[in-house]
Amino acid sequence: MEFQLLFTAFQAQPAHARWPQQRQLHECLRQGIRSGTLASGARLPASRALAAELGVARNSVLYAYEQLASEGFLVASRRGSVVAALAGRLAVAEPRLNAPAPRASLSRRAQNMPALPGSETAAAFAPGVPALGDFPVLRWRRMLDRAWASLTPAQLNYADPAGEPALREAIAAHLRVARGALVDAAQVFITDGTQSSLDLCARAFADAGDKVWLENPGYQGAVAAFRAAQLKTIGIVVDAEGMAPTAGDWLRQRPRLIYTTPSHQYPVGSVLSLARRLALIDGARQAGALVVEDDYDSEFRHDGPPLACMQGLAVDAPVVYLGTFSKTLFPALRMGFMVVPTALAPALSEMLARAAPRGRTAEQLALAEFITSGQFSLHLRRMRRLYRQRRDALVAALARHLGDVAIVHGGSAGMHLALRLHDVAVDDVALSARLLDQHGIMAPALSLHAVGLRAQPWRGFLLGYAQVPVEAMGPLVKKLAGVVRR
Ligand SMILES: Cc1ncc(COP(=O)(O)O)c(C=O)c1O
Repeated sequence: MEFQLLFTAFQAQPAHARWPQQRQLHECLRQGIRSGTLASGARLPASRALAAELGVARNSVLYAYEQLASEGFLVASRRGSVVAALAGRLAVAEPRLNAPAPRASLSRRAQNMPALPGSETAAAFAPGVPALGDFPVLRWRRMLDRAWASLTPAQLNYADPAGEPALREAIAAHLRVARGALVDAAQVFITDGTQSSLDLCARAFADAGDKVWLENPGYQGAVAAFRAAQLKTIGIVVDAEGMAPTAGDWLRQRPRLIYTTPSHQYPVGSVLSLARRLALIDGARQAGALVVEDDYDSEFRHDGPPLACMQGLAVDAPVVYLGTFSKTLFPALRMGFMVVPTALAPALSEMLARAAPRGRTAEQLALAEFITSGQFSLHLRRMRRLYRQRRDALVAALARHLGDVAIVHGGSAGMHLALRLHDVAVDDVALSARLLDQHGIMAPALSLHAVGLRAQPWRGFLLGYAQVPVEAMGPLVKKLAGVVRR
């Protein structure tokens, strides 16, 4: 073996030129072994001989041999240092052996997840993005500082998997007053937002192959979470009163989970009627299913006080209530929570203790203070006022420019509305792409929110208005109308 050639070529590469000699030699030999140039069973020269051949210090050779031996590439034998047998197996995977190596790829269930229509950028009318510039960053920073200052060394350890008790208490108190929930802090579990709550619901409360009902059209983030957990997703058609399962659905498509957005259906904005809520709770009880209530943006109701949640409709309703701070505060906080029925709380705590230690103690404590100090309610009131003005401006502009070809749905709450085109043959996906290309306007097509195969006649766009200033609304809608009419 021409060690001199091998080493000179290695040293000549600019990336290695400034390394210490002993490291150069170690890496050079390691690459030689990994690539098969130094084959299994090959004996390396004695350290003194190799040092003389390469013109390096003997200590550098000794260092390289010791390192390679402790990494398992060399074994000491009576013959000296010998390349280990394991190293030969490594060499097989090297690309220089031309054989097409099997490629690692995403799992089938990951590939089966739907694309999310409209990534959540800050472009007008990207849905789901709050007025980020209006978040009281200074106050938040002060609370974060205080939380960090209060932490003991012990609180830098893994935290309570269910979340910080102070935050669970604060959320429970808020939900009782603001959302009419029947909830005690022991039922509240802190998560990294609704997406992680959905993952957790799928893993904790259903088994692979179980059926989960979702609204059609519906939230693709939920479809993604459930498909990733290998659940069978069944679309249930939505009408003006929300999700409308038939007797046949209950009989033939018995669900384990029922995902719904009852306060402001995503994407079309209908409100699940009281009769339907009670029927869903009854049906779930009889089927042994859990309703997963995603209450993502209902703190913002523009034409009256917020509607009470489903979870509080009956004592021990089979409802898991999901909340998020992505809309009320800001998405990058990645903080949300689930409220589970009392009977399930101990088992879920145990499962989380095994599977998901929590952290971010300071953020949780700051958030608890943000809520209990009244800042949260104040911020919500401010944003409600702002979003109502923006909603009004958008609805007026839509009536002016598109009133004859489309109708607004779901504008009474939240941060987005659905603009439904009368013409059901229109290609809203192509129009949406054109809007983005030509004007940088993000308006996800309603037809991309279909869940399952049953036809759903929604064509049009989802328009988020929370981050669009009133004065920008008219010009943007004019551009939207230009593309739609062409
Ligand atoms: C229906 C629905 N649920 C939940 C969320 C928020 O999820 P997260 O808390 O993961 O940000 C969104 C965000 O757009 C949503 O549209």
